[in-house]
This record gives sequence, structure tokens and C-alpha cells, in this order.
Amino acid sequence: MMSDDDRKLARKDLIADADLASFSRGQSPGPVRVTAYLAMIFIPIISVLYLWRYSAGFDSQQYWERSEIAEQIAALGGSSADGSQDSVEVVFDPIKEGRKIYQTICMACHQVNGQGLPGAFPPLAESAWVEKNPALLARIVLHGLHGPITVNGTAYNSVMAPLGAVLSDEQIALVLTYVRQEWGNAGSAVETDVVAQARNESSGRAAMWTVEELAPWDTN
Ligand code: HEC
Repeated sequence: MMSDDDRKLARKDLIADADLASFSRGQSPGPVRVTAYLAMIFIPIISVLYLWRYSAGFDSQQYWERSEIAEQIAALGGSSADGSQDSVEVVFDPIKEGRKIYQTICMACHQVNGQGLPGAFPPLAESAWVEKNPALLARIVLHGLHGPITVNGTAYNSVMAPLGAVLSDEQIALVLTYVRQEWGNAGSAVETDVVAQARNESSGRAAMWTVEELAPWDTN
């Protein structure tokens, strides 16, 4: 004798069997097919809605590393009362750009806060050298430096690799401006022209500089 519950279970099994069978024969849609249809309809709809919400209009500048400049343009670019467009000045922060170059290239040796590494790499923080003639500093970065040098009263005799092939004139100007104005240093900004001129004047040079060779530019 079947109980009510047994009968219910048996019927469920029958429905499930019939359903799978019809599904595999491609016949009348049972609950399994309905679920499959719903998935086929809703998954694309949800995908499209997701893209619409999060694609940012497929804007190519959305993840642009200088997107903050784009935002500043947008913030400044509102039209004025008479309807004419205000002129927009792009804000380029040389210290920020210089810091990026410092962190990528120089930090490995001169360390996070320009404090250097005793016995190996001289400091740039509060180094009298850093505030000297930009034409001298440009030469150090362009062609490197070796041999004895005294920085903040401490003697070093090590090697700084030439970086003129890695960095453009503008990048050298930016990174020198940064180190001349960071960590309590108070040097002036370095112009790209000064670096370009140093590169031209020393274009035939392959060797790293020594302190003695740099004497002609050790003028302030
Ligand atoms: C491979 C390590 C290394 C890297 C990278 C490096 N330097 Fe140097 N730097 C040195 C060493 C070593 C000296 C001292 C050389 C010597 O003993 O003659 C020096 C000296 C200097 C000096 C003069 C001395 C002083 O401490 O003030 C300046 C200025 C300087 N580096 C700036 C830079 C800048 C700017 C960068 C990045 C663009 C840079 N260096 C990247 C190792 C490095």
C-alpha cells in the first residue's frame, strides 16, 4: 500500500524523467527547459546592463594615468554666463612627474627619502651637490659618475651608471627639479634646455665623469 508521501515522490520522479526525456528529444518544454530558456534570456540582459553601468561609455581615457588632468579640464571647462567657453589651462605638476621618475630610476640607489646608503650611495637629501649648477647635475645623470666624491662631509668612491640613454632631456629636468626641491632642498627648477645643451656639448662622451672633470661646471 503506497502512502500519500510515497505517491507524491513517485509522481515527482515521473515528472523529472519525462522532463529530461523531452529535453533530450527537443520536445515540449518542461521545467528544465524553461529554466534553460530563462537563463538564455536573462544572462545577456544582465551582461548588457552590467556593461552599460560600468563601461564608462567605453571611454578610452577612463583608465588613462593622467586622467586627473582630464578631470581638471572638465572642472575648469564650464561655459561662462555669456555662453563663451572659458580658456582651459592644463595643470601639469612637475614635482609629481619628477617624483615618479625618481621612484622608478633613482630610488633604487639613493633610497626612498634621498638619504642614500652609507658606504655605497651618497644622499641627495640636503646634499650640497644637489643645489649646484644644473648643467653639472645634468651631466652626472646623462653620463654617470665614478671615483672619489665627498657629500655632506662623507667620502664615497663608487659608481653611478649613465642614464642619458634611458631618460629624455625633459625627464632629467623633471627629476632634477624634484630632488632639488624635496627633503628640505631649496634649489631652483631645472629647465629642459639646460639638459639638452649639456647633452649636445657632451655628445661625444662615453665615459662616466669624475669630480675633477666636472670642475668647469662646479660654479655655484
Ligand atoms: C645605480 C645606482 C644609482 C642610480 C640608479 C642613481 N644614482 Fe646618483 N649616484 C650614485 C652613486 C654611487 C653616486 C656617487 C658616485 C661616486 O662615488 O663617484 C651618485 C651621485 C649622485 C649625485 C651627486 C652626489 C650627491 O649625492 O649629491 C647626484 C646629484 C645624483 N647621484 C643624482 C641622481 C639622480 C637624479 C638619479 C636618478 C635619475 C640617480 N642619481 C640615480 C648611484 C646611483
